[in-house]
Amino acid sequence: MTDNHADRPAEPPKIWAVGGGKGGVGKSVLSTIFALWLARMGKRTIIVDVDLGGANVHTLLGIKNPPRTINDYITKKFPKLEDICIDTGVENLRLLSGASEILSLANLQFAQKVKIIQGLRQLNAEYVILDLGAGTSYNVLDFFLIAQRQIVMLTPQPISIQNSYAFVRNAVYRKLSRISSQKPGLLSIIKSAMDPKNELNVRTIKELFRVIRNDGGADVADFLKKELATIQPALVTNMIRNQKDKNAGNIIQLVSEKYLMIKPIDLGGIAYDYQLNSMVSGMTPLAETDPSNEAFAGMYDITTKLI
Ligand SMILES: Nc1ncnc2c1ncn2[C@@H]1O[C@H](COP(=O)(O)OP(=O)(O)O)[C@@H](O)[C@H]1O
Ligand SMILES: [Mg+2]
Repeated sequence: MTDNHADRPAEPPKIWAVGGGKGGVGKSVLSTIFALWLARMGKRTIIVDVDLGGANVHTLLGIKNPPRTINDYITKKFPKLEDICIDTGVENLRLLSGASEILSLANLQFAQKVKIIQGLRQLNAEYVILDLGAGTSYNVLDFFLIAQRQIVMLTPQPISIQNSYAFVRNAVYRKLSRISSQKPGLLSIIKSAMDPKNELNVRTIKELFRVIRNDGGADVADFLKKELATIQPALVTNMIRNQKDKNAGNIIQLVSEKYLMIKPIDLGGIAYDYQLNSMVSGMTPLAETDPSNEAFAGMYDITTKLI
């Protein structure tokens, strides 16, 4: 295989993160397909399996045992994340595997997270795709928030819509608390407001800003408002079976505008695809997918929109 990663890039890579509340909605499969399409478009791409502890992207790419993983970087076996990337057999696509028996995102320490984030920004690639894994722990949210493209995956099931909305909501509050970390008074207001049943009676971001203003923080409220504008989740609804299923993203859009003062983009839906599902079950590498496959083709359009 030719090494087309030899020259250092002039610019840091564009990071796309794929998150969403729940497991099983297709984050890993669709992250891998994003990466495959970007690579096929000639973009030097690295897919990063940030689902430490539950990593499965290597399997989706047909790699049995990744020889190096993020764990080797954390334990300083390799000084740069770059050194841990492995070839996938697909031109322009490398993998940074998170497979680890000892690490999980849940127990990743702050300094380790900072080290990984710094490493990601120095990777020699045009695109870096992060498959975040399930949940809304701070670590998951922090990886989501560093990305230039913040992709939220859901399925049309009501539970999944709720979970994905909760993910977006938690990301908004996490962002606000991170930028308020130097101001203890403000931080405690935001932290109380995070609890949906808080005593401040704050139910929406608008109400939170009102409380902050009343507390003498008009400038702070304006500043936070501007910061909020940097959160623009891109919604992808996976496993669509009918016309009605396509409304799921729109529901999250409406609720986010009303309660969170942010405007997610609805990128549309990906069809439920039996062929894709049986490839995954049969451990056939996703790179071998027939290009006429409906879900695969649908992902091409979404990738193009995100570029
Ligand atoms: N569009 C789709 N059509 C059919 N099955 C899908 C589709 N997307 C994902 N799946 C299946 O859903 C399951 C979970 O996918 P996965 O990507 O592992 O989810 P997550 O990473 O969110 O936990 C897999 O078995 C996969 O084959
Ligand atoms: Mg996954």
